[in-house]
Amino acid sequence: MNRREWLGATALSCMSWQGLADAQAPTSLDALARASGRRFGFAVSPAYADKAPVAGLLRQHAGVITAENAMKWRHIQTVFGGRDYTDADKVMALAASLKADFRGHTLAWHQSTPAYLSVVSSEQFIRAQTAHLQALVSRYQGRIHTWDVLNEAIEVNQSMGSSLRDSVLSKLWGVERYPALFELARAADPQAKLAYSDYGMEQDEPWCERRRRAVLLLLEPWVKRMVPVDVMGLQAHLDLSHRFSATKLLAFFDELQAFGLTIQITELDVRDSTSTGSLAERDSAVAALYQDFVDACLSHPAVEMMVLWNVTDADTWINRWGQGPRRADGQPMRPTLFDEQGQPKRAFEAVAASLRHTKVRFDKKAENNV
Ligand code: G3I
Repeated sequence: MNRREWLGATALSCMSWQGLADAQAPTSLDALARASGRRFGFAVSPAYADKAPVAGLLRQHAGVITAENAMKWRHIQTVFGGRDYTDADKVMALAASLKADFRGHTLAWHQSTPAYLSVVSSEQFIRAQTAHLQALVSRYQGRIHTWDVLNEAIEVNQSMGSSLRDSVLSKLWGVERYPALFELARAADPQAKLAYSDYGMEQDEPWCERRRRAVLLLLEPWVKRMVPVDVMGLQAHLDLSHRFSATKLLAFFDELQAFGLTIQITELDVRDSTSTGSLAERDSAVAALYQDFVDACLSHPAVEMMVLWNVTDADTWINRWGQGPRRADGQPMRPTLFDEQGQPKRAFEAVAASLRHTKVRFDKKAENNV
């Protein structure tokens, strides 16, 4: 058993009587989050959202819904000129039926740009990206809590020395025009909060620290120029093979808060690519990292929302698409709060306990500073 697994087993045995007591009462993660002024929710795909067990879990726990893929440009505009919002409308209707807030995801991301646009001129790309953004934001105007406007613009491991990602977006839209994405989104839906979203900033590894610095360098001039960015979205695809430091994460949150930003955790899951042992031991290790991370987030007043990327270990993108690291034993990973049958795992108990025992409320005043 490694350190994290040991910590997990210890933490969970200490809280087991409390966990048992908590398990007696029906728990809604969103209701627990609302007690401290926050929201809790999930990313969903129409292929799973209306079927058991996902549908029931969403009814019980979701106060926020985001479309995992349905609002991506590549998904809406599979052919030049055509736009198909069928799946996007389905996810929006689901959120409405649950009376859940909606996170729009995502207006500009190099991985969701239609492939046929990688070969056009910069002028043509700017016209197409602008038209797509305006059409999508206007379609759902007034119904979106937060839009992910720009996704994953930094990349610190490139040889060029820049911390901005070299991509179809940087080449054809232009990094100097990134702020214009936020201005276009604000004009199309003045009520929606606008987020910059990125990954790899949550854990205690040198590359995470470089990414934290790079994001602050990106955001600082925008904040000074009053670019309408309201929210930092931390994706939080955590991994048990990386270290975690609440102190370093919270110092980063302080810096974001000093910029006048609120913080949303937008794609939370925990990969157990390297942990060994029985399923119970693996689940304890996953639960321990969830607990460390969620405890830290909930201790900060700028954190307003927490969204998990998918609902169960059966519908998680990690097992579905085979992206990212695989387990050496070929077993599926167990990165969500619910097992493949939709039963709550130790990670569920850990997150529910964190939410239940939160003492720090989301500071709504932070929103008004923007
Ligand atoms: O729709 C096609 C289907 O027709 C085809 O049979 C199948 C075969 O591979 O592919 C399907 O498309 C897949 C698509 O998801 C829709 O389900 C793509 O291959 C697959 O690459 C795509 O993956 C998504 C990925 O973003 C890229 O858009 C994942 O589901 C989704 O979870 C992931 O989410 C991203 C966030 O948007 C941004 N942050 C990172 C996160 C994880 O990578």
